[in-house]
Amino acid sequence: DKTKQDAEKLAAAKEAVKLVQNDDVVGLGTGSTATFAIKELAERIKKGLKIKAAASSVKTEELAISYGIPILPLETLGSINISIDGADEFTETLNLIKGGGGALFREKIIASLSKNAIIVTDSSKKVDKLGAFTVPVEVIPLALQYALNQIEKLEGKSVLRKRDGKTFISDNGNYIVDVDFGLINNPDKVASQLNQIEGVLAHGLFINLTAKVIMAKGDEILIFQ
Ligand code: A5P
Repeated sequence: DKTKQDAEKLAAAKEAVKLVQNDDVVGLGTGSTATFAIKELAERIKKGLKIKAAASSVKTEELAISYGIPILPLETLGSINISIDGADEFTETLNLIKGGGGALFREKIIASLSKNAIIVTDSSKKVDKLGAFTVPVEVIPLALQYALNQIEKLEGKSVLRKRDGKTFISDNGNYIVDVDFGLINNPDKVASQLNQIEGVLAHGLFINLTAKVIMAKGDEILIFQ
């Protein structure tokens, strides 16, 4: 249930925030688990921790600012010491599906810049194979039909994401297509095939971008690295 899941999210987030050190540049994720981490970080800042942060979405940036966390513009950042983000699914091999919240592009940039990309999750996110959760794909609007055609050739079933009856628009002004590939046997291959489609800005398969997953299960903390 939700209370138990939230307790796990909080526990994983707390464990990750312990890893943040003075003077770190910290990448802040998006979503409910990342939000727990941002609140924890704000608590540590109140007690004297000095950090600067980079935000993976407009929502996260607003939240961080509301807690007084200093935000650096992403475009000039050469590297990030540690990032803390959630995931929709992960495997023990540290491959992920992200982007349920639609923030996948900036999340991927942050993960790519991060020397220590930490993922925090509750116990529902661990899977043997990725793909029960659909793969979010961010598409530049004018390439929508072309991208849909190409994804169909990869045997993916696409649904254009909506929110409140309207087409969902990402922070970057693009569409999100949620693609059902079934269970994915070869995520590296699907990731590179999606990367080759003109008009695809980013997709939610995160391959080799994660240093560590911290997952809470009941009272236990499990580390995958
Ligand atoms: C946001 O775009 C996503 O990648 C989130 O990190 C992911 O959806 C996990 O969200 P929760 O922590 O809310 O489950």
